[in-house]
Amino acid sequence: MSKIIDGKAIAKDIRMDIKQKVDKREQKGLRIPGLAVIIVGENPASKIYVQNKRKACKEVGFISYDYDLDASVSNETLFNLIDKLNHDDAVDGILVQLPLPSHIDSDRVLEAIVPHKDVDGFHPYNIGKLMQRNPLLRPCTPKGIMTLLESTKETFKGKHAVIVGASNIVGRPMLMELLLAGATVTTCHRFTDDLPSHLKRADIVVAAVGKAKFIQGEWLKEGATVIDVGINRLDDGSLSGDVDFDSAVKKAKYITPVPGGVGPMTIATLLQNTLFACEYLHNKA
Ligand code: GUN
Repeated sequence: MSKIIDGKAIAKDIRMDIKQKVDKREQKGLRIPGLAVIIVGENPASKIYVQNKRKACKEVGFISYDYDLDASVSNETLFNLIDKLNHDDAVDGILVQLPLPSHIDSDRVLEAIVPHKDVDGFHPYNIGKLMQRNPLLRPCTPKGIMTLLESTKETFKGKHAVIVGASNIVGRPMLMELLLAGATVTTCHRFTDDLPSHLKRADIVVAAVGKAKFIQGEWLKEGATVIDVGINRLDDGSLSGDVDFDSAVKKAKYITPVPGGVGPMTIATLLQNTLFACEYLHNKA
């Protein structure tokens, strides 16, 4: 049977460590880290994610700057806000929750954030730094997954990792993280022919497809480590990942649950990135 990778517990340890570091900064009279979280419109999933990010921020002692903008906000208003936050010395991180309404130019928004406050790691500068093996601020979900994989103490060198999904937020930066760690990496996507044949050779599987229970246990190699990024709402209201957990748990050596696997790690990593930006990139008291 598999060992469950407990993302909830690992994320909690990270948050406690961050809280202690923030307390120490406060005792020394140093500035408290600040994170600005911007949400545009009423997307229900985005509202929950943002609520959780702001709550975690306050729990570790950061200052959370909350901006809830109307879905009809103009590009100009949003860019002016980002410009103001770029120049605000109390703000270490700026996060714009995606997706944005279609009249907003998302690429330009992400590029408007100064790279050293881009705690999501989505700016082309930060993606480029990761690509060039010299990462600065790293995308939260892939970095959080690396923390989960490192917790198993298994080596990456000589291992074959298969990523299912090639999004900008997860699949593509995940490819760079695993490559940097020494794995041989295959990225599968919607045009991939015969997905099971790729998964059969995978020591590490990262599933980020957005389809409930899509990856079947019988497609997996015996002893694989399986990371499930999906969060899908089923008809009965319960949550399911992109992996069919009941069949996969029989084949995998390690597996993440949904909920309680990758989800809490994305937020814990966002806090790590914000503290890093505060301590190393914004060298002001
Ligand atoms: N939408 C889905 N995931 C993310 C994320 O990690 N960051 C932001 N900003 N938006 C998202």
